[in-house]
Amino acid sequence: MSELPAAAKPLTSRNSGAIHGTFSVPGDKSISHRALILGALAEGRTEITGLLESEDILCTARALQNLGAHVEKARSIWTVIGRGLGGLTSPLSDLDFGNSGTGARLMMGVVAGHPIRAAFTGDVSLRKRPMGRVLDPLKRMGLNIEEEGRNTLPLTLHGTSNLVPIAYRLPVPSAQVKSAVLLSGLLASGGTSVIESEKTRDHTEKMLAYFGASVSSESTTEGGVRISVEGRQAFKGKPVVVPGDPSSAAFLVAAAILCPGSDVLVKNVLINPTRTGFYETLNEMGADLSFENERELNGEKVADIRAKTSQLMGVEVPAERAPAMIDEYPILAALAAFARGETIMSGLAELRVKESDRLAAMVAGLTVCGAKAEARGDTLVVTGLSRVRGGATILTHMDHRIAMSFLVLGLAAEEPVTVDDASIIATSFPEFPHLMQQAGAVMDESAVSRRN
Ligand code: S3P
Repeated sequence: MSELPAAAKPLTSRNSGAIHGTFSVPGDKSISHRALILGALAEGRTEITGLLESEDILCTARALQNLGAHVEKARSIWTVIGRGLGGLTSPLSDLDFGNSGTGARLMMGVVAGHPIRAAFTGDVSLRKRPMGRVLDPLKRMGLNIEEEGRNTLPLTLHGTSNLVPIAYRLPVPSAQVKSAVLLSGLLASGGTSVIESEKTRDHTEKMLAYFGASVSSESTTEGGVRISVEGRQAFKGKPVVVPGDPSSAAFLVAAAILCPGSDVLVKNVLINPTRTGFYETLNEMGADLSFENERELNGEKVADIRAKTSQLMGVEVPAERAPAMIDEYPILAALAAFARGETIMSGLAELRVKESDRLAAMVAGLTVCGAKAEARGDTLVVTGLSRVRGGATILTHMDHRIAMSFLVLGLAAEEPVTVDDASIIATSFPEFPHLMQQAGAVMDESAVSRRN
């Protein structure tokens, strides 16, 4: 059975000249989810400027409305009127998170701490993704699930106002699991802590502190981090300005690196160190890249990122860096196909449980484009070639980042590259095709490439 949605839209990219100009990318996806969710748990009004208006985020906004929070957009500002901790109510219909693992998992933490019943569902891709990693700690705190023993959506959750606080050591480096436990910890009686041995993105902690909640992070003796929140502490809504998403900026930066004569400036991008592993790796590969005008925006670091055409050299990307660039391996692998020598990316087990099995999707797509790539267990090895043929149709498996990565690869390949469904890009970066065309990329809706 085909996985493609009925409205699948192929898109083709072609060998392009210079990528240039000054751009803004849409708001950070992780921060956008959190601004809506914390706004709904806060007391009073949270006005959000620069919210990412992609499908994933709209699913979270609709879920919160369904749970009784007031969420609306007027002109360009999104306003959330919070219900205060424990104030959400039973939804009238299923909560549909579409393609979004972050929305579904964070909201499981929220529902766990309310005495309500909520059915969670999502699209074909989300229904394959593991939820046990979130349900396990939440069940220990008191969450009940109707479908006992089942770890994938659809699931019906029964929350409680009597959550028990826990100390939880993350078995996988996942900011989504950490955040779900911290959010439910806000609703529990007493202190909840999460211990992570590898530091993952810390936007939940940062935004909680910005909202005036008490949250602490301390290093553990084994080199990890323990994050603790006190339950049932009220906090008030505050204005949030969402910085540009570094994971979206990565595609413009990559296109500039690959296409001759390029020079782009991407303004106002989040550069929280838990998110900049891709840029660190590009520097090691010899990219002409700089962060300019560094500053702070509601507790998060931002900068303007400049990138120019560069000949990259293959490198070994250490496994410890994976959490800080987990969403950027597909585009790094596309870049590595044009680098000199081998790029070895290890510690990628988590890539197998993203919107698709990204390790398999990248190896398959690169191979059909005539590039050299192989998976050795959880390590991805890409051997750069001076030219990449392209001339293929890529199966995106309902994965926005696979689609965007191959469209960027097509800009520097000899023959056009088609992705089977570009509509999925709207989950994170609806403006991508238009913005890339404005920057000089040649993309059109014909489906011309043969191999797949
Ligand atoms: C996210 C965390 C990451 C990332 C996802 C967004 C978040 O997932 O891949 O795109 O906002 O917390 P994991 O935490 O599961 O690695």
